[in-house]
Amino acid sequence: MKKSLILAMMAIVMASCSAKDKILVTYFSASGTTKTLAEELAAKTGADLFEIEGAQPYTSDDVNLGNREARAFKEMADKSFRPEVKDKPKKLKSYDVVYIGFPIWGNAAPNIIYSFIEQNDLKGKTVITFSTSGSSDLSNSHRLLKEQYPDLDWVEGVTLKRNPTPEDRQNVLSKLVSCSLHGKIAD
Ligand SMILES: Cc1cc2nc3c(=O)[nH]c(=O)nc-3n(C[C@H](O)[C@H](O)[C@H](O)COP(=O)(O)O)c2cc1C
Repeated sequence: MKKSLILAMMAIVMASCSAKDKILVTYFSASGTTKTLAEELAAKTGADLFEIEGAQPYTSDDVNLGNREARAFKEMADKSFRPEVKDKPKKLKSYDVVYIGFPIWGNAAPNIIYSFIEQNDLKGKTVITFSTSGSSDLSNSHRLLKEQYPDLDWVEGVTLKRNPTPEDRQNVLSKLVSCSLHGKIAD
């Protein structure tokens, strides 16, 4: 009797842990905008958070829009280049839903997102994209990822554009939350 009660309690604890671990929000952010959005999204969905970082960190010089020789532009020019990623998420297997967030660079996801996808097994998971940008929509960046990795179960999220109002931000967050609940942006 005592033993079965303990087993039942263990089952409840294990079930609540796996429910909590279901969603992972991963993101790359060179200057903090995507990081803030990712943190808000993780808080709203009760997800774990993982930052995709370069083994060689990205500095403000690397993303200087006034310098076409900057690292970001060099990486953008070579679509096959894969910058080294610092770390891998732990227990990736335990997640059903993985958000991938990034700043849009040259109307595409930065090369490091491609490195991340190639180094982590996302097959069988729902992979939801989101981004921040100056003015570009997410659609082209998402399409390119889907074309490159057709075996993944992609869901297109939404981008947060520069200088959002609090309403814009809330709107983007609710759309992104709906992606994990419904597998698409709910109407
Ligand atoms: C190298 C580079 C290329 C960019 N290309 C685009 C672009 O094609 N379209 C766009 O709307 N914004 C573009 N941006 C603006 C970023 O997407 C935007 O500032 C983003 O919010 C930065 O996110 P972060 O602070 O997380 O790095 C670019 C920025 C950089 C540094």
